[in-house]
Amino acid sequence: MSVTLDFADMSVVVVGGTSGINRGIAEAFASHGAKVAVASRNPEKVADTVKSLEGMGAGMAMGQAFDVRDPDGVAEGLAAFHAKMGDFDVLVSGAAGNFPALMSEMSNNAFRTVVEIDLMGTVHVMKAAYPFLKKPGASVVSISAPQAFLPYEGQSHVCAAKAGVDQITRTLAMEWGHEGIRINSVVPGLIDDTEGARRLVPTEEARRQALAAIPLERMGEKADVANMCLFLASPLASYVTGTVINVDGALYQGGSGHLSMQMGKMLRMTAGSKR
Ligand code: HXC
Ligand code: NAP
Repeated sequence: MSVTLDFADMSVVVVGGTSGINRGIAEAFASHGAKVAVASRNPEKVADTVKSLEGMGAGMAMGQAFDVRDPDGVAEGLAAFHAKMGDFDVLVSGAAGNFPALMSEMSNNAFRTVVEIDLMGTVHVMKAAYPFLKKPGASVVSISAPQAFLPYEGQSHVCAAKAGVDQITRTLAMEWGHEGIRINSVVPGLIDDTEGARRLVPTEEARRQALAAIPLERMGEKADVANMCLFLASPLASYVTGTVINVDGALYQGGSGHLSMQMGKMLRMTAGSKR
């Protein structure tokens, strides 16, 4: 059997697409000829990504700098994409913020910051993109995290926010299904060479323990997550919607307990030594 993935002429928007996993997704679509737009806060990162996408064969590449916490900025940015590329065939919402911190050591504003970026950011992106989504036919993907269903010490903010993101996915699949819009969450496991992994597994010892909890015995690659997004955007996935799909080497089944408790211990020691 041969399967050809052809995204030429498709319009793809990746919010938070200027580094790490999400940039990998933008690059994968660009290398298959799609018109690709990326957005994040930092204009230099946006410009650098657009240049790279052009060099990879994108039908068109463009970018906007905005903060997903600002609904007006998101709406203006997505409208600018729509004016140039037409209705969106693919929307990926992946902007996120994370830092390990115990609830007892975190200010309310620290917790709120992560919820504002991950959860409210998703709400702002979904609402602003809705008028521009191809109907029927759009594939929408939210980038979630294992913390949505695996409790993890030092991660209460992301656990709460990403659980909300997944419930938005399930709900919008119902609200938008009659218009032929599909929406799914993709859950990367621990992905190598990313900011998220650097924050969550900051030492060689932590990395070793993380690997011990992953049945496939390796960290994921950015391409593993990008490949799932390509699949979801393809006709092969035309009946797939409302799902939360792990791309994690069965990290979920391995569980986060041990690694999470080590993180908790480390954060408590740090907090104790400051008192
Ligand atoms: C406790 C902290 C903190 C920390 C920040 N804060 N870092 N509190 N411990 N380590 C507090 C600040 O004191 C402040 O509260 C509040 O959080 C907001 O901080 P700012 O620095 O003003 O926020 P901002 O500049 O908006 O930056 C947002 C950010 C930052 C989330 C704090 O780290 C960021 O920009 N992150 C984006 C990149 C990122 O995180 N990538 C990884 C995604 S990975 P006060 O009370 O002082 O005002 C992911 C899942 C990974 O999401 C899963 C891996 C398996
Ligand atoms: P990353 O490189 O830090 O990517 C985050 C992206 O979001 C960047 O482009 C960043 O650019 C943008 N961003 C952050 N805050 C923003 C804001 N307020 N408004 C607009 N854009 C913002 O992190 P990553 O590790 O690759 O993570 C990418 C996604 O995968 C996230 O959704 C994360 O939760 C998820 N994830 C990662 C892992 C992992 O192993 N890394 C595991 C599970 C889930 P700017 O800084 O320019 O804004």
